Amino acid sequence: MRRKLVAGNWKMHGNLASNQALLDTIAAGMKRIQGMDCAVCVPFPYLPQAQSRLQRTEVAWGAQNVSPHAQGAFTGEVSASMLVDFGCRFVIVGHSERRTLFGEDDSTVAAKFMAAQGSGILPILCVGETLQERESGITAQVVNRQLDAVLDAAGVAAMAKAVIAYEPVWAIGTGRTATPEQAQEVHALLRARVSDRDPGVARGVRILYGGSVKAGNAAELFAKADIDGGLIGGASLVADDFLAICRAAQG
Ligand code: 13P
Repeated sequence: MRRKLVAGNWKMHGNLASNQALLDTIAAGMKRIQGMDCAVCVPFPYLPQAQSRLQRTEVAWGAQNVSPHAQGAFTGEVSASMLVDFGCRFVIVGHSERRTLFGEDDSTVAAKFMAAQGSGILPILCVGETLQERESGITAQVVNRQLDAVLDAAGVAAMAKAVIAYEPVWAIGTGRTATPEQAQEVHALLRARVSDRDPGVARGVRILYGGSVKAGNAAELFAKADIDGGLIGGASLVADDFLAICRAAQG
């Protein structure tokens, strides 16, 4: 049985004071929640704050981006080893906002995935189709292409030390959630795609759903066979909502 994971993606939100209140409440609330994993992915400058507040708690932390390069003249970039210095367990790669707003293509995403793993950080690989792609009937083609780019570059064994997140672009920040059936269908496709290369790895890899997950819809999503938790945007900024989603993932 895969242990569920609920990860918050704070995106570009927060400040020292609001983060402290949010982290305090999440860390305290997680003391009463068992049998699932919980993490928050915070903006780079707040990694030391997350580390100092969350170490020795039930909450892991991570980043939202990483450079594909180990070091060098890459102004503005942050390497995986720098994330290790601040105790990151996870890093999000291939989020649709990075793909569309910052021009990250499949090969860049694969390079970032491998850079993270090379430093022992678990990449959370995001895949997902736009509304236009869904309506054109090419959802499977799009998510398979995004997944294959990483499987081809990193090898299927790498998925044993990674997390996949299915995030339909049309459901992100829109309040429009995929139905549990729609999400399950794509999660099953993704798991089958990994299984074609290695059934054992496919059985173990966690596939999170992301896109307008709220306290009110988390349980029905997490009840599906191939949905192993969530990647939470807006609701991860409200401690009580995030904790309610974590409770819905309890084993
Ligand atoms: P929302 O939960 O705000 O829709 O964001 C989802 C997301 O992009 C998580 O990475």
